[in-house]
Amino acid sequence: MTDLADLTPLVPDMTAWRHHLHAHPETAFEEVGTQAFIAERLAEFGLEPQLGLGKTGVVATLTRGQSNRAIGLRADIDALDIPEANTFAYASKTPGKMHACGHDGHTAMLLGAAKYLSEHGGFDGTVHFIFQPAEENEGGGKAMVEDGLFDCFPMEAVYGMHNWPYLPFGHTAVALGPMMASFDVFEITLTGRGTHAAMPHKGDDVLLAAGELIVALQSIASRLIDPLDPVVVSVTQIHGGDTWNVLPGSAVLRGTVRAFSAATQDAVEAAMRRTAEAVASVHGAAASVRYERRYPATINDPREGAFCAEVLGGLVGADKVDTQPRPNMGAEDFAFLLDKKPGAYVWLGTAGPEGGVPLHNPAYDFNDAALPLGAAYWVRLARAALPVR
Ligand code: NI
Repeated sequence: MTDLADLTPLVPDMTAWRHHLHAHPETAFEEVGTQAFIAERLAEFGLEPQLGLGKTGVVATLTRGQSNRAIGLRADIDALDIPEANTFAYASKTPGKMHACGHDGHTAMLLGAAKYLSEHGGFDGTVHFIFQPAEENEGGGKAMVEDGLFDCFPMEAVYGMHNWPYLPFGHTAVALGPMMASFDVFEITLTGRGTHAAMPHKGDDVLLAAGELIVALQSIASRLIDPLDPVVVSVTQIHGGDTWNVLPGSAVLRGTVRAFSAATQDAVEAAMRRTAEAVASVHGAAASVRYERRYPATINDPREGAFCAEVLGGLVGADKVDTQPRPNMGAEDFAFLLDKKPGAYVWLGTAGPEGGVPLHNPAYDFNDAALPLGAAYWVRLARAALPVR
């Protein structure tokens, strides 16, 4: 069994890779330099990187022994549209973009595992290293699946990991079921007859309707869905009106919905349509609702979750593995992979003693101390899933 010490010789490499990626952030489906960097490293390890799945994705395959069993290990590689606040030497060189979610660390840890396993093997079967683009907003996981990820690279299970600054360093979590929420977006357009602001009765006040609708939408989570079924409905934008004395003829609300099952997503959408139409009609206005499902919920296979918990326990100690974490209402497009294959997604705690900067904060920086831990998890997972008999 590998321990952390085995990965120590790789720490300088992993750190250098991580810092290079951090300095050169690229966002959804534009990870061209990142893709080339990953492919170059994999080629150095003697692997043959396959490019193009999900546009800027990379997959490399490593086979040892005779078994025809296969698994996939996935890292996301994209950055965010956030101007970086850090000033250290490897801070983003691209204005307006930064690695604020630690995907630079995810990439470096999976590269480290690929290098280690290429050199040391210790498993019987095939490991597919999956470097996935566009985790943020755009669903690169979906794109890779649609481009034939599981047809080109057959595998029986797939595994994911995220650094988690909300857990102390060295602590980990893996749910034996729902882990992260679904991610839907909506846009509600209210239309009516615009009018003079001093004579509201001559038109339809879509701004008053919008105000009432923001409040009414909160009844979906509190009154219309089972209270034991977590739902968030957040209105995040409101646009309407241009001047002081005009009631405009239209207003637009936009926002996001989070839930943990397709049935709840359906119920929320139906309730939203009813509520929007009813509130609009009170004011003589009309409502049109565009409701778009972006990511399904990330739901671990219970057996695979327990397997990952055992692997994590061997690494950090069973007392530092939480198998009943509170699910997070954030979303993760690894859900598209778990939708097709058994597998599990784990959180690797990275907070220092002073606490962690939250993900997506302009001062975020992946905790390099976690590099050997994450890489060791991948190595142990591959060896445990594909044991040499
Ligand atoms: Ni992330």
